[in-house]
Amino acid sequence: MKRDFLHITDFSSDEIREFLEIATDIKARLKARATEAPFSGQTLAMIFAKPSARTRISFETGFFRLGGHAVYLSPQDIEIGKREAVKDVARVVSRYNDMLMARLFDHAHLLELARHASIPVINGLTDYNHPCQIMADLFTIKERLGRISDLRIVYVGDGNNVVHSWLRLAARLPLHFTCACPQNYQPDAETVRLARAAGLSVVEISHDPFSAVRKADVIYTDVWASMGKKHELKERIRHFEGFQVNTALMAATGKDTIFMHCLPAQRGLEVSDSVMESPASVVFDQAENRMHAQNAIMLKLAGKV
Ligand code: CP
Ligand code: NVA
Repeated sequence: MKRDFLHITDFSSDEIREFLEIATDIKARLKARATEAPFSGQTLAMIFAKPSARTRISFETGFFRLGGHAVYLSPQDIEIGKREAVKDVARVVSRYNDMLMARLFDHAHLLELARHASIPVINGLTDYNHPCQIMADLFTIKERLGRISDLRIVYVGDGNNVVHSWLRLAARLPLHFTCACPQNYQPDAETVRLARAAGLSVVEISHDPFSAVRKADVIYTDVWASMGKKHELKERIRHFEGFQVNTALMAATGKDTIFMHCLPAQRGLEVSDSVMESPASVVFDQAENRMHAQNAIMLKLAGKV
């Protein structure tokens, strides 16, 4: 049976820990230029319905450095959901390629692709979630803080796709996770319920960033208007007043805290320039670790480890 990587909760706690171990190993081997070519002769199809820098570069580079070839399909190529049936795209891509990564608007389209593809499908972000990002973030936290337990993670900003993946991680690993967001920008209630129902983590929703960040090990933020919502930015800037991660908010944790952002960042909106450039910021480690975490995911799905 093929496996897909569509949500963090598609994998057990042990499997999530194993991804981190594989990522550590493959990162060290890539740095030492000591990798073999496990994907030699193979192709990865990458369907993009939205723009990307990190996701495209990290998947394309990662698959290439492991010996394979990645095929980039732009929003104009596939036109998912428009040009032909999603289930037809799934079967056609499966006839040519060994693996499929897709970045789409509609999460239901991703589920449909996975259902009809005979090859492993990886979620490169949908309107609902962004699980590869959270695997890279967890890996970065492990590298920086030396642990993935006993962590107080405070996300400040829009209750969006990135938050949904944090919530699903909280259903697999014990975390103290707080989402500090404006009243009208809360994460999906069903996903909050799922995270709490697993009974592993403390999951809180707050509307007061300054009290939420107290004792935080990690402060995380993301853009106030995600892809597909950019036209709302002006209105959102009004609603997100007071939710910027700046030097004062970082200081309010009362301890050493790292700053994380999935990027791209809108400096001066959700995060100040000073925090982005501060020693607390690990955003470029996160970006690099996208490649290592995804390499681990691809190796595992392909049964190469
Ligand atoms: N963090 C992330 O997914 O970046 P891109 O949108 O540039 O791929
Ligand atoms: N929430 C952002 C993440 C970008 C990587 C978006 O969906 O645009």
